Amino acid sequence: MSLSEQNLPEFRLPADWQGISELFPVQKESIWLNYCGTTPISSFASSVMADYFDEYSRYGIFAPRYSEPKIKVILRNYLAEILSCSPDSIGLVHNTSEGMNLYSHSISLPKGTRILVIENEYPSNVYPWEHWKEKGVGLGFVSVGDTPDEFLRNLEDEAKKGDVSLLSLSPVHWCTGMPLDLKKISSICEKYSIKLILDGSQAVGHIPVPLNEVKVEFAAFAAWKWLLGPLGLGVIYLSPEVPKDFRILFKGQASVKNDGSYFPYRDEWKPPADQFEQSTSNFNDWIYFFASLRMLSTIGFTKTRERIYEVSNLMSDMLRGLGFRLDRDVFPDVKTGIIAVNGFQSGKEFNPEAIQAFLRSKNIYAAVRLGRLRLAPHIPVTESHISRLESVLKEYLK
Ligand SMILES: Cc1ncc(COP(=O)(O)O)c(C=O)c1O
Repeated sequence: MSLSEQNLPEFRLPADWQGISELFPVQKESIWLNYCGTTPISSFASSVMADYFDEYSRYGIFAPRYSEPKIKVILRNYLAEILSCSPDSIGLVHNTSEGMNLYSHSISLPKGTRILVIENEYPSNVYPWEHWKEKGVGLGFVSVGDTPDEFLRNLEDEAKKGDVSLLSLSPVHWCTGMPLDLKKISSICEKYSIKLILDGSQAVGHIPVPLNEVKVEFAAFAAWKWLLGPLGLGVIYLSPEVPKDFRILFKGQASVKNDGSYFPYRDEWKPPADQFEQSTSNFNDWIYFFASLRMLSTIGFTKTRERIYEVSNLMSDMLRGLGFRLDRDVFPDVKTGIIAVNGFQSGKEFNPEAIQAFLRSKNIYAAVRLGRLRLAPHIPVTESHISRLESVLKEYLK
């Protein structure tokens, strides 16, 4: 533990996954299966928030153990560890849309070229690129296909046309849960001189995103999915290869160096990734995020991912046993936590909304996306939740 982390609450690792599950009150009365949507708070994070609020009530912004620079260093270090990058490349924003917009409006792209995103992409990685259309840069959608290999072929076909300047990619599809091969995608982008940008909301904390092994210029992602952070906090990554004179479109109080000193007004900008934090931050959310990352780090980021796959595989086997057909059946060799149920193996009529409503009536929370019933377990979900889900689904299928 570094000096800067002293005296902050430690996460005491429970003996087993059941113990971890018990730290999530939501899992007691209900079964939350929408961790790729939003994630309820753990009792550890709420206790850290209570500890911080107690200190803040007594000392205000001079809260001794929770100073902003100290928490920022810790958050950046955890995120840098997850992404295998330098902490200096990390900035904090409010959500993916904000990060993408700030970046998209701050770069230049050659007229007559095209930006690509995947088909049926989440709007946060589509709308921020639309302004380019008025500037003579097109916006196109690459068909994802049914397997990661099919996507690579589709991408290469687009790249070969020679006019793609930027690909803004979600490495895991938010509706089907299909993970894409980041390393191969990065090589295609390098081969055709395409800037690679990531929407990491469905990927970071869920699949490996080794930014030291892939050439990514910028990434933005939400904290409240696989990283179990608070709503309304997002993260950006900006490559160190971005020129030192990179300027974000907007200038705010915190854009300049030594921003605690207000006069004289200055034009000495902070390093590029810091410019994304334009003024007073949502510091309460930083504390929540700190607690969640401390918990995940103590469990182990890799161990967490492996447990997500384990639970997700057990749940998938149970669903197949009940006759359901899953998107993942056609890409069995790649690891994902998201289960997209797209029908019955028998071909009988499938009504995902009706199943979702039935589950909801039994306090089981799933989502419906692109005609699929989407189930996304995380470490709070255990084998006993899978058994409960199985009984409820059997009742529905009767
Ligand atoms: C692919 C993807 N990107 C981004 C988001 C979240 O966007 P924002 O952070 O702008 O709310 C989601 C949420 O479901 C998502 O699935």
